[in-house]
Amino acid sequence: MLSDRFGRIHDYLRISVTDRCNLRCLYCMPEEGMEFADSSELLSYDAIVEVVEAAAELGFRRLRITGGEPLVRPDLDGLIRRLKAIEGIEEISLTTNGMLLAKQAAALRQAGLDRVNISLDTLDASRFRLIARRGGLEQVMAGIRAAGEAGLGPIKLNCVLLKGINEDEIKSFLRLSLDQPLHVRFIEYMPIGHADEQWRKTYLPLTSVMEAARELGLPMSPLERLEGNGPSENWTFDGAAGSFGLIHPVSDRFCTSCNRLRLTADGNLQPCLYWVDELNVKPALGSREAIKELFLRAGAIKPENHEMAAKLHDESISHTPTARRMSQIGG
Ligand code: GTP
Ligand code: 5AD
Ligand code: SF4
Repeated sequence: MLSDRFGRIHDYLRISVTDRCNLRCLYCMPEEGMEFADSSELLSYDAIVEVVEAAAELGFRRLRITGGEPLVRPDLDGLIRRLKAIEGIEEISLTTNGMLLAKQAAALRQAGLDRVNISLDTLDASRFRLIARRGGLEQVMAGIRAAGEAGLGPIKLNCVLLKGINEDEIKSFLRLSLDQPLHVRFIEYMPIGHADEQWRKTYLPLTSVMEAARELGLPMSPLERLEGNGPSENWTFDGAAGSFGLIHPVSDRFCTSCNRLRLTADGNLQPCLYWVDELNVKPALGSREAIKELFLRAGAIKPENHEMAAKLHDESISHTPTARRMSQIGG
């Protein structure tokens, strides 16, 4: 098992397969000027399989495929089929913006994908265009339906709360969880690769979510069991088909229970999504032992926690944050 300096066991690998995306969400990447990796810089599927074989020997059991938008990379179902066949890999999930999901859901399921998390920040089409800087709400809704039909549940919806932009939709999102088996997670906007000023203006702590849930006047209780490897704290209204969850990295960080490493599309192991440190796996390809050695080093240099909240108060931080945008990390 890969244990770090703080005794945290790592068995969850997030694999970004591309830094490209068919949307331009304002919390994730700039509208223009983003430079994407050349396809020759991306880890090939053969290389990703090789890295996961090494990770599985170190006790990694769960994988999440991310992007950019992972479904824009061709033949993703082929990769998933190969990853699922690796000894020790028990679960593969995917985080997607849903735009291409209607077309691919059935093939992904057939390839062995277990479940999907889908980004959805608004239920209003014109607001979708404001946040994602492109249209597509109907396509995402079709993707959500297709994922349900394909058996890719529990289906989780990721809603990044943005002050003055979608905070008035909290109750609508909460109500979504009542009649349908949808698990809505409200997420605090994280300052990754941003001009701090823009982030500060739009960041909203999650306190208003529980207030809105209470205002609905329905009895609710913590949800004990929901498949997941992430930091979400889940609640359900009594008798509801779905649930809602809170992911609050900024106001109340959850780093003491961190169980994950990240592999970027251009082949870097990133111990923590916040800091600059990363280790390039490309020189280690071809040697199982060298790849395993890199994973152990990633564990050894992994920091105790992030320092996002310091940016709210202009406090200094102890180290250098990553220069990557979220689209180059995969969340
Ligand atoms: P499951 O719980 O397994 O369903 O997945 P998850 O919630 O870990 O994955 P998902 O990709 O849906 O991420 C949801 C949100 O949590 C995104 O905003 C991620 O950026 C954020 N997140 C995931 N892992 C971490 C982490 O290690 N640290 C921080 N700060 N945020 C994370
Ligand atoms: N803060 C919080 N969540 C983010 N995501 C992307 N950028 C940010 C950010 N700056 C979310 C997306 C997606 C997941 C991978 O990460 O909404 O659902
Ligand atoms: Fe782990 Fe870093 Fe996320 Fe904290 S911010 S939970 S240490 S990856």
